[in-house]
Amino acid sequence: MVTRSLFLAVAVVVLALRTHGYHETLDPLPGKARSLNGHDVAIVLIPEPEVSLVDYKDFGRAIQLLFPLRLYVSLVDISSENTVTLDNLPILIAECTKTLHESGMHSGSAVFLATHGQLGHLAADYARAVPDTLRGLILLGAVLPKRVNVIAFPLPVLTIVGEIDGVTRITRVSETLHAMTRSVKFDPELAIQSPLIILEGSNHDVFITGSLPFSLYQQDIEAEVPKRVAMETAANFTALFLAHVLQEPEVFVKTAATEFKKAFEAAQNMTAPIELLREATINNLKSYWVKSAQKWLSGLTGKQSAQIEVDSYVEKSQDGLPPTMIYEHGVNHIVTFSEVIRYADKGKAEDDGSLPQAPDEIAAKMLGPERIQAALKNATRTYNYTCRDLNYASFMTAYHTATERARIRFDGYHRGVIFQPDIVTNSEALWESTHLKFTVHASKLYVTSIAYKTPMDDDLGVESGLFFCKLLPPDRAMEWIYVDSILRDMSF
Ligand SMILES: *[C@@H]1O[C@H](CO)[C@@H](O)[C@H](O)[C@H]1NC(C)=O
Ligand SMILES: *[C@@H]1O[C@H](CO)[C@@H](O)[C@H](O)[C@H]1NC(C)=O
Ligand SMILES: *[C@@H]1O[C@H](CO)[C@@H](O)[C@H](O)[C@H]1NC(C)=O
Ligand SMILES: *[C@@H]1O[C@H](CO)[C@@H](O)[C@H](O)[C@H]1NC(C)=O
Repeated sequence: MVTRSLFLAVAVVVLALRTHGYHETLDPLPGKARSLNGHDVAIVLIPEPEVSLVDYKDFGRAIQLLFPLRLYVSLVDISSENTVTLDNLPILIAECTKTLHESGMHSGSAVFLATHGQLGHLAADYARAVPDTLRGLILLGAVLPKRVNVIAFPLPVLTIVGEIDGVTRITRVSETLHAMTRSVKFDPELAIQSPLIILEGSNHDVFITGSLPFSLYQQDIEAEVPKRVAMETAANFTALFLAHVLQEPEVFVKTAATEFKKAFEAAQNMTAPIELLREATINNLKSYWVKSAQKWLSGLTGKQSAQIEVDSYVEKSQDGLPPTMIYEHGVNHIVTFSEVIRYADKGKAEDDGSLPQAPDEIAAKMLGPERIQAALKNATRTYNYTCRDLNYASFMTAYHTATERARIRFDGYHRGVIFQPDIVTNSEALWESTHLKFTVHASKLYVTSIAYKTPMDDDLGVESGLFFCKLLPPDRAMEWIYVDSILRDMSF
């Protein structure tokens, strides 16, 4: 007993001494009804690092206006911490809860944890550790980490991200959405319980009144929708989420279901082209893109191209198998081996969506047209393709697959893309170790492929007539069109 009260006393003293954060509480607006079960409702909002909590007041007020019940909003002051971690976050939240109680919030109230941007994954880890203390998680301009599946998350999660958020890229959001789409097949309620909203034409700063700190500002994209309008939309979705989790008031619960379903479908539509091209690069250990490239490379057109079939495996070539051609059941099968390569593990910055998501290159080992013709005997080539032609095709495929909005936006920025002649290496080893060149100079993108070819020569055996290209993955071209080419500072 003595030990326990001593421990409590120490804890209280520690809390009292530590309270140097100036957390701010927005009290419920007058005239708002109490929840039917008597609970108070509160949102504890953790700002984006280096953004003042004052900049979230308008957003908090907008939610309070749109939500029909009494709602507290607590803005966490993280400015006194060097970094926010799982060690100090519980203390900051405890301080805020204490402040809320001092402002008159009842105990046993429904608390939602919200955060904007970079601390999203930390907030998710915290919420996962203490789900009993919260009713839901609200991610603004952030998505759950990939290691966390929303279907297994112990709380409802609301995710709201701008369509042209350069800090949390739509290419990353689309992966979360795709994982959710798979889960929704088994649990259709998921898209309503844990909604994902993409705000059309909004960027990363839609939730704050001022502007982002300089480095984030540079990394972001110019918004297309007035912030006032988009912030209100985001606040409206947040209010609907609170109501849906609390299951009151009834009219809001019904609206939430239809609105979230619609928003989920809209988000799927917006990201469908990104998903399509991700699967073109690699799907089930095969590459549809390499298959297409090999067919073009054969130079056969029309009916003649029906003479060949291509199997395009994506695997690390342990035994360095060259591509090959097999005649079977009246069809010539070309079997190619490729690698889909990321130059470096980008770790957390890739998972939180602030860095490019698409792979850097496809190292495609294909057969040249002479080798194919020698096997077919009766084929005429109409065109001699280069690796550069294949990469131009990759870009044009991305351009024509993009949504009309994304295409018009890209055109509006007038960023040129220049495909330079192939760099031809004289050894396979050199080809392997030389990266596809993808460089930005004066806002223009320069793409240069690396090629390696062997001559037709009986002495070379299976190594004869090879044609290797470092290919531009179509999803990388897509990410360029959707995100990289329109960033405020293109060096990101
Ligand atoms: C909020 O959402 C509801 C339901 O979709 C809609 O009827 C209402 O007009 C919205 N209000 C604002 C201010 O956007
Ligand atoms: C999504 O796309 C489908 C097919 O084009 C269309 O019928 C549907 O209305 C779209 N939904 C939304 C919410 O945009
Ligand atoms: C060779 O190609 C031509 C035209 O494509 C076709 O008419 C002919 O039947 C082919 N011959 C053989 C032996 O396949
Ligand atoms: C393709 O290249 C081969 C040999 O390099 C040449 O004989 C042929 O005329 C070329 N075909 C076309 C259509 O340019």
